[in-house]
Amino acid sequence: MKKNLLIAPSILSSDFSRLGDEISDITNAGADMIHIDVMDGHFVPNLTIGPDIIKSIRNHTDLMFDVHLMIENVDKYIPIYSNAGADIITIHSEVSKNISNSIKLIQNHGKKAGLAFNPSSSIEILNEVIEKLDLVLIMTVNPGFGGQSFMNDQLEKIVATKKIIDKSNSYTLLEVDGGINENNIQDVVNCGANTIVAGSSIFNGTKDDYKMNIEKLRIY
Ligand code: DX5
Ligand code: ZN
Repeated sequence: MKKNLLIAPSILSSDFSRLGDEISDITNAGADMIHIDVMDGHFVPNLTIGPDIIKSIRNHTDLMFDVHLMIENVDKYIPIYSNAGADIITIHSEVSKNISNSIKLIQNHGKKAGLAFNPSSSIEILNEVIEKLDLVLIMTVNPGFGGQSFMNDQLEKIVATKKIIDKSNSYTLLEVDGGINENNIQDVVNCGANTIVAGSSIFNGTKDDYKMNIEKLRIY
């Protein structure tokens, strides 16, 4: 059992018609934080969760809200999602015009700042900003939808990211997101990830299965 592994269920795979209950149930099942996928229909083809929805579920758990912004115009929305109840705000490296400024904007709102990388994106910029970051997110699917297959060719990028974090001596979390299940989590953790996002493998079955689904990811 890997004790210092953070499990962040992605509510994209939850039942949106009962979102408040799903948040309570996944909290009781042992989640470490709640991963919230925000999509704008531009950066990714899908549209998902606006700030009012985040506000409405904020009092259903005490866990941190890990808000993954798959949107353009991030600087406009950082204050809005901060006020809605986010604790961590992760922006995509592909959209921010000035990554250092966007990181600062997030932290000036008292939130933790993350930077995400699509499968096709280089992590080169990390060498410049790693010391400012609270979290790095490596995508192991193309963002936009839950339930896709894990891309094995991203494992090397996780290793390379871990090296950059270690070299900088920072406490930056290394989060991996997309297609993670009990069969591939060992590879992901072996490469250096300490924060795991999982949607379809956790919100699977009924609420009585969630605890076991989370535990399966901790035991390998
Ligand atoms: C994809 C999202 C992921 C996704 C994970 O764009 O960022 O968080 O919901 O879901 P699974 O675990 O089903 O790939
Ligand atoms: Zn995500």
